[in-house]
Amino acid sequence: MKPITTVPVKLDGGRGYDIRIGAGLVDSLPAAVREIAPGARALLVTDKNVADMHLAGVEMKFRRAGVDLRTAVIPPGERSKTLTQYVNLLKRLTEIDDARGVIAVAFGGGVAGDLAGFAAATYKRGIPFIQVPTTLLACVDSSVGGKTGIDLPAGKNLAGAFHQPRLVVMDLELLRTLPPRELRAGYAEVVKTALIFDKKFFEFLEAELGALLEAAPAAMARAVARCCELKARIVERDEFDKKGIRMVLNFGHTFGHAAEAALGYGRLRHGEAVAAGMLCAADLSARRGLISEAVVERIHEHIAAAGMPVQFKGCSADAIYSRMKLDKKFSSGKMRVVLLERIGKAVVADDATPAEIKAAIKGRVAV
Ligand SMILES: NC(=O)c1ccc[n+]([C@@H]2O[C@H](COP(=O)([O-])OP(=O)(O)OC[C@H]3O[C@@H](n4cnc5c(N)ncnc54)[C@H](O)[C@@H]3O)[C@@H](O)[C@H]2O)c1
Ligand SMILES: [Zn+2]
Repeated sequence: MKPITTVPVKLDGGRGYDIRIGAGLVDSLPAAVREIAPGARALLVTDKNVADMHLAGVEMKFRRAGVDLRTAVIPPGERSKTLTQYVNLLKRLTEIDDARGVIAVAFGGGVAGDLAGFAAATYKRGIPFIQVPTTLLACVDSSVGGKTGIDLPAGKNLAGAFHQPRLVVMDLELLRTLPPRELRAGYAEVVKTALIFDKKFFEFLEAELGALLEAAPAAMARAVARCCELKARIVERDEFDKKGIRMVLNFGHTFGHAAEAALGYGRLRHGEAVAAGMLCAADLSARRGLISEAVVERIHEHIAAAGMPVQFKGCSADAIYSRMKLDKKFSSGKMRVVLLERIGKAVVADDATPAEIKAAIKGRVAV
């Protein structure tokens, strides 16, 4: 039950926190709640799939520890990151809040984390919350960094707030029930992190791919811990995403987001779009003479071996490019894309020409 690793996130103003990574760490949740918010009631937010598999066990641990736990179960998937669910959570919080106070526990993937985090950020101008990510994507990406939010009818993540959790508990046992497709989608963000920051880590991923795709705890703990360390270092330098330092984390994302939109949301998991998007960015990097074709091939091999898409299917390159131009971050002034200088080092380029970008997309679209 001891954490295999603790990754501190060092932030000013008392906003720093620990990320604990290990197997069986859910056992420590009631004590963590008690320590962070003594006497408070906890509202655990989870989705129906996660609840069916894991909630009874968690509730039992809280009962045994004598910590008052209430639950809010939302339907699974992006369709729950809505104003309606957000308002429901605020209502639940007012119902259970009393003189002892209330703490939120996000127990699920990025959807539960973003939604519960946003409710915690805004209820009474901020209450403490704990992130317990249950998807690989949430472990390596959404639960670290303090971005919370919901979607609006006009677009994804349009209402949100920065609100750092007080603690992140990653129990790798929970990942064992993840459907393989979700595991792979999260794995795309692991590959992204290695490609932009750390060549040795990429070599580790190449060597341990089999174990990682089975969510084997030892290999997974190392991969998750490295991703958290690397993301934490970036968040520490640019907590509120104001300095452009977080930009490199968008490697593969400008292409990926555009393809998700062009295909219609829901066709590809986000990580799947990012996988093929990273290959577009790698192709563009090679076209611009930053990396060799052999490096592109090496990345391609790994993505293919992990069972992630190496191409976009079902839409045209023009449709993807048109969506890219709608992305304000991309088109405001310059067309900014994150490229690779080598495996382990990303660079931001704002002088790629439309022709170069279109050619990179065309090479990754299968009709
Ligand atoms: N805040 C951030 O910085 C940030 C960063 C990246 C992504 N995000 C957000 O994260 C969301 C995507 O997160 P996600 O991919 O985790 O999606 P998700 O929360 O919808 O989870 C994916 C699926 O896995 C299921 N699931 C979760 N844990 C499980 C488990 N242990 N066993 C079995 N099934 C399980 C869920 O029920 C769901 O069907 C998006 O809304 C995205 O905008 C936020
Ligand atoms: Zn992503």
